[in-house]
Amino acid sequence: MQSDENRALAGRRILLGVTGGIAAYKTVELVRLLVKSGAEVQVVMSGGASQFVTPMTLQAVSGRPVRQALFDEAHEAAMGHIELARWAELILVAPASASFMARLANGFADNLLSTLCLASAAPLCLAPAMNQQMWQNPATQENASRLLRRGVQLWGPASGDQACGEVGPGRMVEPEALFQQACRHFTSGVLAGVRVLLTAGPTREPIDPVRFIGNRSSGKMGFALARAFVALGAHVELVAGPVVLVTPPGVERVDVETAREMEQAVLDRVASCDIFVGCAAVADYRPEVAADQKIKKDNEQMAIQLVRNNDILAAVAAMPEGPFTVGFAAETQSPEHYAEKKRLAKKVDMIAANLVGAQSGGFERDENALTLLWAGGQAVLPMADKGVLAQQLVTLIAEHYENRHTTKDT
Ligand code: PMT
Repeated sequence: MQSDENRALAGRRILLGVTGGIAAYKTVELVRLLVKSGAEVQVVMSGGASQFVTPMTLQAVSGRPVRQALFDEAHEAAMGHIELARWAELILVAPASASFMARLANGFADNLLSTLCLASAAPLCLAPAMNQQMWQNPATQENASRLLRRGVQLWGPASGDQACGEVGPGRMVEPEALFQQACRHFTSGVLAGVRVLLTAGPTREPIDPVRFIGNRSSGKMGFALARAFVALGAHVELVAGPVVLVTPPGVERVDVETAREMEQAVLDRVASCDIFVGCAAVADYRPEVAADQKIKKDNEQMAIQLVRNNDILAAVAAMPEGPFTVGFAAETQSPEHYAEKKRLAKKVDMIAANLVGAQSGGFERDENALTLLWAGGQAVLPMADKGVLAQQLVTLIAEHYENRHTTKDT
């Protein structure tokens, strides 16, 4: 018997792009699963792909002639490439090689597959597959981030043993998992109907009308998370400290300045949210008194009395019937160790540890690395563009959120 999710694919028109890479042999199984669930699958191969899997094999499992050439008279007469671009309800490229991602990021239309991607209004999803060093190369990360900003979804890559003998991020997500993603895509997003409240950026604690205590958070990590939650269908409210970032499409934004304003904005909204993520770098202390006028430099030394701000994350996590709560821990040493202490002390469902003040990642930069910790488990998300990382993190949050619900309901 087919599950509701699997029925979601019946009659769906999926254009499956295959580019050159050892993972191309796995696409055969993906096509088999898609076809079995009732989808119409048109395979389009790049020149390199046929080095790894034959068009004949993919034709046999998809039941349709495979398309390869941009100007192929016989195929163009049956269904021209523009018609094919319009036909697709979803374009999934699996595996997507580094070179294909680079072409796409730069808008090239130099073969049938890249032309179709440009000419189609269908959602475009890529399952990257490449050597771990190639994936982590800044050029690939930049391309991935450009594609994400344009609304392209990245399904993966996974991390682990690679065909080249190396270990790391770059493996194509397994066919069964890609198949499930495709099912979820057609049931309008894993987090459809889920309300997410998110904090991002720094807070500023005034000393006088011109000075404040602040920190280095740029808001990039939090804004990337907001974008990734929207991509999974969630309704997102973003409480942002003072940052110079554009609001991601589909996100409701509330601007605040101080920790107390952030706390109030969160408390006003938290009762109606399902998931709360505290990514903001909230000031732990504020000046007890903020001077009304600019303080004059009359003395050689001055002391500012600081008082503790309330912990917003801990307050949300302590709410009876509160949301699924995810915190961050910014540490300059032993991030996992201190993050685990914070997870237990603040009683949050998950916490993402990151190293700040190091040579790469953390505050202000475009890339970051995270270790996500929860009761009885952890996941390491290696250094990557914050957009890519946010997608990975949000996928994990969605899985755990779903599990908590399933466990509660049964
Ligand atoms: O903004 P970017 O430049 O992209 O940088 C991203 C980041 C480094 C800011 C982000 O990845 C991050 O780590 N955010 C949390 C920063 C932080 O304040 O960490 P913390 O270890 O001090 O706090 C732990 C958790 O408690 C955080 O979820 C924080 O939001 C929360 N907190 C802290 C104090 C407070 N008064 N209220 C809180 O809710």
